[in-house]
Amino acid sequence: MKIAAISDLHVLPDDGDRELLESIKRRVEEISPDVFVIAGDISDHLSVLDVSLSQLHIDTCANLYVAGNHDIWFEEEGGPGSLEKYSRNVGSICQKNGFIHLPDGPHIIEDTAFVGSIGWYDYSFRRPELEIPMEHYEQKEYRGAVWYDLFKIDWAYSDIEATNLFNRKLEYDLATLPANISQIVYVSHHLPFRNLTIYKDRLPWDFHSAFMGAQSTGKILENDDRVILSISGHSHVRNLVSVGKMIAMTVPLGYGRPDLNKLDDFVRDAVAVIETTEGSINVPNFVKGDICADLSYVASRH
Ligand SMILES: [Fe+2]
Ligand SMILES: [Fe+2]
Repeated sequence: MKIAAISDLHVLPDDGDRELLESIKRRVEEISPDVFVIAGDISDHLSVLDVSLSQLHIDTCANLYVAGNHDIWFEEEGGPGSLEKYSRNVGSICQKNGFIHLPDGPHIIEDTAFVGSIGWYDYSFRRPELEIPMEHYEQKEYRGAVWYDLFKIDWAYSDIEATNLFNRKLEYDLATLPANISQIVYVSHHLPFRNLTIYKDRLPWDFHSAFMGAQSTGKILENDDRVILSISGHSHVRNLVSVGKMIAMTVPLGYGRPDLNKLDDFVRDAVAVIETTEGSINVPNFVKGDICADLSYVASRH
């Protein structure tokens, strides 16, 4: 099975990223995968998510989406809140545009199941040696640096409660798969494994790393022999690691935009190709690191 995967497009409003979306679609069509996966963070605005998915949909394969934290940021007073976006709005926009929103239920292709969740963070990726008091993680602020979910996620759950909720749903999805499923691909926005995270020995970067994911989610995956692959977004630094027999990776594009004449090369780096055959996984030409490092940014928030 061939999978094309990308995340964190952070699409500009008002058709500002038309060429980018066209280039991604062209590249995925060239790859000709069985499954096209997008692991979240298309836009803070449902209207932009809607237009983007309609432009990205590939007719010849399964199209899978998992919401990112940006996709569930509330937009205005009286509009849908984060929980409503996650449990209802994102799913209906996916459906309208031929995408399957994996958190609404696994997608099965023969003996392979794709299971998805936004995942969350419980500060288990923090660096204890920094000795930052726990209140700062709970309040998402340290020495003037703010994790912006503070202002834009409006559900009543604490981060620990949210992580537990999504973990329980993941366990339920895994436990209720049909008996013939022999391999599972997990798709999430937040990271399930700490060693996918890049630390830089500086602040606020290493403070923000605490908001990347949750180790408890990874433990659930490690305890299920059928899970062969984990694809995530959220960290804007691309990475690929082995965890036991699993391959875990992050596939972000990010906030940077190259000159138009370099767009196709940029997109080639951004779209990961993953081939699974008889239990072995091949990820040819995977590009690690921040592919936006030398580019000008279209936005500045994680
Ligand atoms: Fe992102
Ligand atoms: Fe994110």
